[in-house]
Amino acid sequence: MSEKQKFEKLNAFIKVQKDLDGPLMPVMQFAQDVFGYLPMDVQQAIAEGLGIPMTKVYGVATFYSQFVLEEQGQHIVSLCMGTACYVKGAQKILDVLEEELGIKDGKTTEDRKFTLSGTRCLGCCGLAPVMMIGEDVYGQLEPEQIPEILAKYKTQEVAS
Ligand code: FES
Repeated sequence: MSEKQKFEKLNAFIKVQKDLDGPLMPVMQFAQDVFGYLPMDVQQAIAEGLGIPMTKVYGVATFYSQFVLEEQGQHIVSLCMGTACYVKGAQKILDVLEEELGIKDGKTTEDRKFTLSGTRCLGCCGLAPVMMIGEDVYGQLEPEQIPEILAKYKTQEVAS
């Protein structure tokens, strides 16, 4: 779908939602589903469409962790930074991930292969320290395993 078509889809949805109660969250969620994230021009379109200040849209986008403001990579690397994982050395794993990927936590590599994301408890503390790449779970991690794990994903093609 082209950018133009995405905006048309968003504007049609806004038209329907506009007169309902509390349209902002559903519209933002819809926009994220369509665009994959919420860049400034999309936030602007939402603000204009709903007739509300841009600052309100931005405030909601930055407050709720479900909203993503930057384009995401093909693989989301989620490293648990919860207490159990932290105690078992998650910080060292994060250091290696940042070094191997050449990006800081929360950022996406230039080739759009990876987004690195330190997260809250993933709910499997018995496996600490834990990392997920997409749906794949890696537990009881050692820093020296990281390059080999990443290598599996580096060869996969980025969908255009
Ligand atoms: S603290 Fe890491 S999975 Fe719970």
